Amino acid sequence: MREVELTIPEWEQAIAFLTAAGQKCDDERQEFILLSDVLGVSMLVETINNRSGGATESTVLGPFHVVESPRRQLGDSIDQVGAGPPCVVTGRVLSASGAPVPGASLDVWQANDQGFYDVQQPGVQPRANGRGLFTADADGAFWFRTIVPSHYPIPTDGPVGSLLNATRRHPYRPAHIHFIVTAPGYRPLTTHIFVAGSEYIESDAVFAVKKSLITEFAAVDDPSLAAGYGIANPFRLANFDIVLRPVP
Ligand SMILES: [Fe+2]
Repeated sequence: MREVELTIPEWEQAIAFLTAAGQKCDDERQEFILLSDVLGVSMLVETINNRSGGATESTVLGPFHVVESPRRQLGDSIDQVGAGPPCVVTGRVLSASGAPVPGASLDVWQANDQGFYDVQQPGVQPRANGRGLFTADADGAFWFRTIVPSHYPIPTDGPVGSLLNATRRHPYRPAHIHFIVTAPGYRPLTTHIFVAGSEYIESDAVFAVKKSLITEFAAVDDPSLAAGYGIANPFRLANFDIVLRPVP
């Protein structure tokens, strides 16, 4: 305040902004997390507290992890609508030595092909569309079916949108799938896989892209492989191994 010699109208505007951010919050909308995200605070705090040390890098939780994901079996689809490019996500959960972490829990959530999460479209998308809670097998392997998510704008109908507008910033995030991976004896990992080549991959509105998290969603045209996964051919295949750090 000393440095900028804040005026009374500026102080009033700041109070009004923070008040509006609070009033925009409810059980499914967290404007303060969004504010932290667009200021780069969430990403910085995440990175300071999760120096990866060779493990999979973390990134922001984001504002849409607001409902408990339904428990699903390996191979299930988290997509309950069927619009958008069919996709299989596979990978293994490993320790730093490359040993499998059997029984790891993977909570995943994503936007649909139009760039909306289920909680943004009640009555349009089924509840828990794009969400699933999986358990890796004895080899640490996981796989599930979904659709390729779209890039999307963060919500701009609140004070954070006004802030972006005033600072001439776009509100878009590149396409991604969220993960929270947990296993006994390991530190929980909150991260995303980003769709390689997605729009806005170089200018994420919340600064969350790390190069190591950009994943090829390879185009596959192989009817027998598609049949094996129980998915329409052709499809996209993303493989992403996750390395956890042990609890110190
Ligand atoms: Fe997201």
